[in-house]
Amino acid sequence: MNLPEFQEERKDNIKTTPAEGRLGVLMPGMGSVSTTFMAGVEAVKRGLAEPVGSLTQLGTVRLGKRTDARTPRIKDFVPLADLNDLVFGGWDIFDDNAYDAAVHAGVIEKSMLDQVREPLERIKPMSAVFDKEYVKRLDGPNVKQGSKMDKAQMLMADIESFRKDNDCARLAMVWCGSTEVFHRPEKVHQTLKDFECGLQKNDPDIAPSQIYAYAALKSGVPFANGAPNLTTDVPALLDLSKQNNVPICGKDFKTGQTFMKTLLAPGFKARMLGMKGWYSTNILGNRDGEVLDDPGSFKSKEETKLSVLEQILQPDLYPNLYGDLYHAVRINYYPPRGDQKEGWDNIDIFGWMGYPMQVKVNFLCRDSILAAPLVLDLVLFLDLAQRSGMRGIQEWLSFYFKGPMTAPGLYPEHDIFIQLMKLKNTLRHMRGEELITHLGLEYYD
Ligand SMILES: NC(=O)c1ccc[n+]([C@@H]2O[C@H](COP(=O)([O-])OP(=O)(O)OC[C@H]3O[C@@H](n4cnc5c(N)ncnc54)[C@H](O)[C@@H]3O)[C@@H](O)[C@H]2O)c1
Repeated sequence: MNLPEFQEERKDNIKTTPAEGRLGVLMPGMGSVSTTFMAGVEAVKRGLAEPVGSLTQLGTVRLGKRTDARTPRIKDFVPLADLNDLVFGGWDIFDDNAYDAAVHAGVIEKSMLDQVREPLERIKPMSAVFDKEYVKRLDGPNVKQGSKMDKAQMLMADIESFRKDNDCARLAMVWCGSTEVFHRPEKVHQTLKDFECGLQKNDPDIAPSQIYAYAALKSGVPFANGAPNLTTDVPALLDLSKQNNVPICGKDFKTGQTFMKTLLAPGFKARMLGMKGWYSTNILGNRDGEVLDDPGSFKSKEETKLSVLEQILQPDLYPNLYGDLYHAVRINYYPPRGDQKEGWDNIDIFGWMGYPMQVKVNFLCRDSILAAPLVLDLVLFLDLAQRSGMRGIQEWLSFYFKGPMTAPGLYPEHDIFIQLMKLKNTLRHMRGEELITHLGLEYYD
């Protein structure tokens, strides 16, 4: 077989083992996002739909000079798992199989769901680790009993049975469960020893999502956090990810309104336009909206949503432009809209000599349609990272998150274009290609 030009004489900086065998995707939470993701992948596999929104499936990466005409697809450039090798599993407090859960979520038309009914019906949720103190608006029958340590061990047993039953060579876990109430790192989160002791003693500060993450990391399974929960953002679990050589990333998928914010805000700042206020509100009627109607869960979401502007605009460096910014975010639960969220943004900016202007954004989006391709990319990239020996926080995956995890003491990069450059440069670095700085002086020599 003739290899394309970019694959000849590879000088990889990082050795990556091939993506051989099946990759199991495990998701705590089988609601709108995870079922839309699974149904979409099954539809793409059958040629019924296109994987729109997925960088791994549709994106390209430029290599070398602009005159070199080397722009392979990302999936041809780095060895990613094939969609046909993905198998799905999950946990939920409700016992609906993935087909019934997808029908209930109401994101994908039933006529399409019926064409992938058979693989979805086979996916039955394993019993969940759940604590109503962390998600006040939900309750369900499909839950595990025992101490927190018992539950962690039961999750590890679930992971191993799934691995064996589905003949998986590798696994990846993505938290697609509900948003938990806001909480800060406590003493129990500081060291692995404290954390394990806390599991034994049923410490109330250990959230269910942290028990899943602990079980994943102990089992050597990469973990991504799609919600704004604290989860792995604590020293104990960060240490465990490094100790066990497991890649992790999070938090909170960057879709809808915050995605728009991270597109617009860097633009205003690039032109040194000032900003007095940014008011964001939206209506959402799915189960996620219902959970976020609880002030504790909303507080978690508010934190990741609010931090974005502060980091992008850097009011400390530009006090005259952004020092007085008033930023408000509201989410209103409104059942008639289901998953079809509508967001409104009013942005008060000012220009030359302080003259005020306004920008209005009205985004009629589909929450889970935007999130599903992110789940796919995260699974494939986390698996790539693990096969490449990368461990701990994967900052190059910030592109996908509202509240990107970073090394302690480092501020996160929220500008989506910088995030994309970082992601692609990471892939170039892995494959021993020159990094692209956009300096471009060589074209004018
Ligand atoms: N859709 C988006 O655009 C988007 C963007 C950013 C973040 N998120 C986050 O992704 C998550 C999933 O969103 P969704 O729209 O699918 O919500 P959803 O309510 O439809 O699904 C969440 C599922 O998780 C289950 N669950 C809750 N706690 C659990 C536990 N401890 N163990 C197992 N299952 C549990 C619920 O029963 C529910 O079925 C939410 O936290 C949401 O905030 C979504």
